[in-house]
Amino acid sequence: MSQPYTNPSLSIAERVENLMSLMTLEEKVGQMLQLPANMSDNVDKLEQWNVGSYLHCTGDMVEELQQRAAKTRLGIPLIFGIDAIHGHCFENDSTVFPTQLALSCAWSKQLSQSMAHVTAVETRACGLHWTFSPVLCVGRDSRWGRINETFGEDPWLIGELAAAAIHGYQGENLAANDTILACAKHYVAYGETTGGRDAYEAEVSPRKLLSVFLPPFEKAVKQAKVATLMAGYQAIDGLPCSASSWILRDIPKTQWGMDGFIVTDWDNVGSLHDKQRVAEDLRHAAKLGLEAGNDMIMTTPSFYQHTIDLVNQGEVDVALVDDAVARILSYKFKLGLFDDFRYTDLSKKPQILGNPVHWHASLEASRQSLTLLKNKQVLPLDEANKPKILLCGANADDVVAQLGDWSFGSMQAGASDDSFHRRDCVTLRQGLQAAADAGRCELSYVRGAAPAEADFEEILAAVDAAANSDVIVACVGDILSQHGEFHDRANLDLSGHQQAMLEALKATGKPLVVVFMASKPLTIPWVKQHADAIVCAFNPGAKGGIALTELLLGDLNPSGKLTISFPVHVGQLPVYYNKYQGWHALISGRTNHQERYIDMPEQPLFSFGEGQSYSEFEYSDLQVANPTLSASQDLAAGEALKVSVQIKNTSQRAGIEIAQLYIRDCVASVTIPVMQLRGFERVELAAGESRRVDFSVPYEDLALINAQLEKVVEPGAFKVLVGASSKAEDLLSADFKVA
Ligand code: NOJ
Repeated sequence: MSQPYTNPSLSIAERVENLMSLMTLEEKVGQMLQLPANMSDNVDKLEQWNVGSYLHCTGDMVEELQQRAAKTRLGIPLIFGIDAIHGHCFENDSTVFPTQLALSCAWSKQLSQSMAHVTAVETRACGLHWTFSPVLCVGRDSRWGRINETFGEDPWLIGELAAAAIHGYQGENLAANDTILACAKHYVAYGETTGGRDAYEAEVSPRKLLSVFLPPFEKAVKQAKVATLMAGYQAIDGLPCSASSWILRDIPKTQWGMDGFIVTDWDNVGSLHDKQRVAEDLRHAAKLGLEAGNDMIMTTPSFYQHTIDLVNQGEVDVALVDDAVARILSYKFKLGLFDDFRYTDLSKKPQILGNPVHWHASLEASRQSLTLLKNKQVLPLDEANKPKILLCGANADDVVAQLGDWSFGSMQAGASDDSFHRRDCVTLRQGLQAAADAGRCELSYVRGAAPAEADFEEILAAVDAAANSDVIVACVGDILSQHGEFHDRANLDLSGHQQAMLEALKATGKPLVVVFMASKPLTIPWVKQHADAIVCAFNPGAKGGIALTELLLGDLNPSGKLTISFPVHVGQLPVYYNKYQGWHALISGRTNHQERYIDMPEQPLFSFGEGQSYSEFEYSDLQVANPTLSASQDLAAGEALKVSVQIKNTSQRAGIEIAQLYIRDCVASVTIPVMQLRGFERVELAAGESRRVDFSVPYEDLALINAQLEKVVEPGAFKVLVGASSKAEDLLSADFKVA
């Protein structure tokens, strides 16, 4: 006779309760275990350890394992997790999008959501239910290898784009063919590790955690209802995240009311002993991990037996196991895994993965993410005269450099076959070649310098070829072996002989357009000074070569804006716009107060929010409709600030402007950033069109965390700044107050 938990007409709470009443301790602890399916003999352990979840399972193995799970005593389905980070990139034929950093430069919640939705559809079509995405780390230090995975440096923007991505992944109903669980990671302040050292120590005070690093996660949990969080590798003020019940239990579960579950990052629990040495052995590590509030334990197999022993010997309360298992099971029920969605019809994969609609979404993301940083009237290229283009740089024709991390080239993919990427990718070289074949330009390609090679002959060949060209397009940046997990950099200059190539090409006197294809901001002051135009692509996705070609030839009017500052020099790091006021400014004999280092400016090379267009926009008449807001203790109920500004497209060409709104709290009881982003609008304007653009800033977004760690809006004077970027010269300012 079937048990009540198999009855879909009962509530999820009733089904979970019934199922748990039937489970042995071993079955419960097994639900907390997640093992990598593509490594060692982990799949053999399914029945022996009652494994509840596998990660990195692809192909037919998905179905095989799910069938085996169905035959176990209670038939509890497996939940499969995977790093579908910018598309379901570990599966052949899937749609690959620009990386999160590139995508963020579009400042588009809609795009973030559509990328996630396509990824959800393709991931689910492969029988998988859960992606370890999006990344909510704050990207402030380019030395860190994983900057490419972030949405940039601003916590508020990260929260907005992440919430949109979570909606895209999870949709309205998880028991469906087009939704999967999202995972907001790496919780919390993982990107803030000292010196850009991956998985090291984050020196972050509780106030900074509450002010900067927790808010995006709070939005993910409270607003977007993210199902899962992933605990970061690092320690904060001496306590590894996976050993902190304040971080794992008190904040998300108790204060924010999260009903989902927390998965550790790779072997976090083992690391409590092996690396961080806060546990004397793996048994102790299991105890600390369980008590702190990790619900699912990724790749620490020893957790299984140790936890069973700890409970049986009375050293930990079984209630902790029960809480974790109930959270996991409730999401297995929500996903419909006990009902109609246990199996997926894998025969439909060929129609779903990489279908034209999905590729169109990817191409649109590539287009919107491109950011024009400089243009001395070189771009768009003069198509009327059929320009002779010399294209140089290995990255102009390197699929893996274009796609970046978390695709087949990357470490954790576990796949050596990258033929798909080569087949469906369009590199910049291929994009321009197609334009040349269509008679729009002439193209010659000389590979020139590569990020990790040292071949001078190639540079000489490039210089020779320049003689026959009208314009040089040089693509420079980094390659996969220079970024990602375990790949932090101390030197952010262009590597290999890329700098030498640029200087040699510049010396030819031909106009020099630099396409920057890299995982992160590098230190390129020479490029800023000497290039005639600069296009920042980061890792622009599989169709990036098409989008770049459109931009160079003028079919596409660029609209991206940076979400991360570029340092002038590595010694300036960390550098970000929402900095603090205090820093001895006046050095005798110096007049420029911005130059706070004695040997370089305080300002970044390129600033947050910066990006040009082929159109020109003019901001005027900033108005605050309610310049005196009444102070309110209840932040959610407080009056929103209403602001509007006039924006005119003064050019002959239709374009999109990303208008940004920042708030400055003029005096506060604690030191706070000079200004903070609190709104943006993508404004599409026809040639000559002028429009009033409205912003509404929720009262809560004026709040700070005071010295008592309370979130409050302090009465007093504020400024609202609206304009084209975070640079002072781009912003209009108006006063308002809270009284
Ligand atoms: C380690 C990475 O830090 C994390 O981002 C990823 O999701 C897991 N491994 C699983 O691959």
